Amino acid sequence: MKVAIIGQGYVGLTISAFASNYFQVVGFDNNQKIVNQLNLGQSHIEGVESSLLLKLIKTGKYRATTSGADIADADIVVIAVPTPLTVDRKPDLSYLDAACKTVGANLERPALVINESTSFPGTLRNFIKPHIEKYSSRAVSHLYAISPERVDPGRSDFNQKNTPRLYAGLTEEASARTKEFYSKFCDNLVEVSSPEVAEAAKLFENTFRQVNIALVNEFAQIAHSLGISVYETLDAANTKPYGFMKFTPSAGVGGHCIPVDPTYLAAAAEDHGAPATFIRRANEVNLEMSRYVVNRIAADNGGNLQEKSVLVVGVAYKTDVADVRETAAELVIKHLRDAGAVVSWHDDVVADWKGEKSSPLAGADIAVVVTKHSNVSVKDILSCAPYVFDTTGTVPGAKGL
Ligand SMILES: NC(=O)c1ccc[n+]([C@@H]2O[C@H](COP(=O)([O-])OP(=O)(O)OC[C@H]3O[C@@H](n4cnc5c(N)ncnc54)[C@H](O)[C@@H]3O)[C@@H](O)[C@H]2O)c1
Repeated sequence: MKVAIIGQGYVGLTISAFASNYFQVVGFDNNQKIVNQLNLGQSHIEGVESSLLLKLIKTGKYRATTSGADIADADIVVIAVPTPLTVDRKPDLSYLDAACKTVGANLERPALVINESTSFPGTLRNFIKPHIEKYSSRAVSHLYAISPERVDPGRSDFNQKNTPRLYAGLTEEASARTKEFYSKFCDNLVEVSSPEVAEAAKLFENTFRQVNIALVNEFAQIAHSLGISVYETLDAANTKPYGFMKFTPSAGVGGHCIPVDPTYLAAAAEDHGAPATFIRRANEVNLEMSRYVVNRIAADNGGNLQEKSVLVVGVAYKTDVADVRETAAELVIKHLRDAGAVVSWHDDVVADWKGEKSSPLAGADIAVVVTKHSNVSVKDILSCAPYVFDTTGTVPGAKGL
């Protein structure tokens, strides 16, 4: 069995690594640089070790390609391409469209096409299937299924094997073949009654997190105004053994999922005339946190940040990953610069970002911790500036939320 995986990023490469143990895998990506690196056995994704990749390549189980012709004889195709927002924050299905073109134009025989990219309910049925058919000049008909990805990059306790996986096909045969595929490397498969349920469940999972993060971000502001510790209060509430789940405040949410997926759900809701009030407001609260943080820093520093040298510590969207998509650091830096501060950033995990390089962790008037990687010590953070504001709750001794 040959499996083609379209998109070799966080999701696609992770699936490739697991599936290569059971199938011959070809990883298709339209980024030549990534493909070249992968074929040299160099992984760009946390959680997929380069040594494993090299082994899979050497044993002929995996190779990466930019050539559509290499997927022509695939039995199974998994789509794992970005589903971001457009500049006006609407669902952007252009990457999915391009992936459909690759699949439609190249697949020569009937295959099972599974979508793992996150999108709104109806995407498999009303977008992916008709688009692949539109781009295909052959009289082949494929099976279609969805199995939304739940990978949490950088996490070691939950992985492809032990994270339950939802799936649903457009037909019973598609569902059965999808189950057969994933059951090789996933212990717990949960079939739902339609692709739309699986698509909606994935969006709701991330919306649940987005709304709760917004709630705790709002609560951090309430706690500060009441003169109590948000962290101590959250720990106190968390002693309740049921009906409470602890979320922690931050400078905002980042990554490809939490700031994005809820907007897919809101867009689908509004298209159907249903309200998405919580979702829209939660998004605003999370986006406004960066301004709140900068206002707190300014208030602690005489109300004026003009010409102050400010070092933002950690610009990745989360600990120990190099991913900067939608990172809250971007808005924090913007608001600091708007306030006249001279801003640099330190993040050796990210190293290069927006044409700037990571600065030394030293010599600032003010430091603001947005993300604390495990290779950065509390001691070094506290000694890099006379005033340190921590948005992560992991730097004892600093000012913070
Ligand atoms: N990163 C996560 O934690 C995560 C978790 C669950 C679900 N998802 C979803 O999975 C999907 C993929 O996300 P990701 O994080 O892996 O993205 P990513 O940016 O890490 O990887 C996407 C890859 O697809 C490639 N690509 C883009 N257009 C392509 C095309 N037309 N053909 C082939 N390759 C193409 C890019 O070069 C990139 O290497 C998204 O829908 C995302 O919402 C992501």
